[in-house]
Amino acid sequence: METYDVEEASVLCEQIIDRVAEVYVGSRILLRKLLAAALANGHVLFEDYPGLGKTLLAKVFARVIGCDTKRVQFTPDLLPAEILGTQVWRQRDSTFELVKGPVFTHVLLADEINRAPPKTQAALLEAMEEFQVTIEGETLPLHAPFIVLATQNPIEQEGTYPLPEAQLDRFLFKLSVGYPASQEQENDILLRRIQWRKDDPTPDVKPVVDLSGFLRLQRSVEVSIYVDQVILDYITELVRSTRKHPKVAVGASPRGGLALLKAARSLALIHGRDFVVPDDVKMVAVDALAHRVILNIEDALEGVKPEEVVDEVIRQIAVPTELGRRAAS
Ligand SMILES: Nc1ncnc2c1ncn2[C@@H]1O[C@H](COP(=O)(O)OP(=O)(O)OP(=O)(O)O)[C@@H](O)[C@H]1O
Ligand SMILES: [Mg+2]
Repeated sequence: METYDVEEASVLCEQIIDRVAEVYVGSRILLRKLLAAALANGHVLFEDYPGLGKTLLAKVFARVIGCDTKRVQFTPDLLPAEILGTQVWRQRDSTFELVKGPVFTHVLLADEINRAPPKTQAALLEAMEEFQVTIEGETLPLHAPFIVLATQNPIEQEGTYPLPEAQLDRFLFKLSVGYPASQEQENDILLRRIQWRKDDPTPDVKPVVDLSGFLRLQRSVEVSIYVDQVILDYITELVRSTRKHPKVAVGASPRGGLALLKAARSLALIHGRDFVVPDDVKMVAVDALAHRVILNIEDALEGVKPEEVVDEVIRQIAVPTELGRRAAS
């Protein structure tokens, strides 16, 4: 597959972010992180309150990167087959026909993922890791890219099934879109609604790349972004330090280290650099690691948050300094 040169790719990335920001009001850093996750073919868990624009963001983002999107509302009675698909008996021809479920898309919006029971969650989580699904014995590959944007409500509620830690690990990032940062942003949301003359402007948004263009951007990260050993050392030290932290019962997994590596490379491309710098790693360390850290019960009860622990680890570890020059030379 062809790739873009880094400068060309970075221009496209900026255009993608600009185009999404024409619709979704919010921080550009968040949009950069979302794009970085998508370039790494990573899944994102959004933990947020209702009505903050998550669905809108997912839809417009998918459209701008030329991808097809489907949405599944998770409910207590949702069955695995309603995500994956099922064999349906066709009386007319006396045969079974495979009816594919919504998982056969590029960007799957899984709303309120913690409202479905574990069996249904597991069906999706298997697809997320293996990029294939098995429907009644038949294994089918999913479309590339396959990116899950899942949401869950942070309020503890009855009748929810919190994702087990093992399954949280499959998300590249846990992010939060958060409330509008200012009254001006809040006002922008209203103004845009008046301009759009409808609730959902997504169909009118023009994609920046088509599907093959997006796959090419993904490929460019793999082919063009250099990672120095110093950066690998920095990543492994961060990950290993989460395991040694006194308030931590279970630290970040090696998959957490890979998540950091992939996200940092994507960010380098977005920033128009053909090598990773420590800041690329730092920028996403909390997003990539905090949801993989399980605190000691006592500390969790005292209100310590995994995000704080990862933040502390980042501050404790010396940031490599010699790299930029070496990689650039
Ligand atoms: N940051 C934002 N930028 C633009 N529009 C927004 C923003 N936040 C909310 N909206 C608008 O508010 C409405 C609700 O947004 P949306 O449905 O995307 O929220 P949600 O986070 O998916 O909520 P829920 O958790 O209930 O599914 C939409 O009409 C959307 O256009
Ligand atoms: Mg929604």
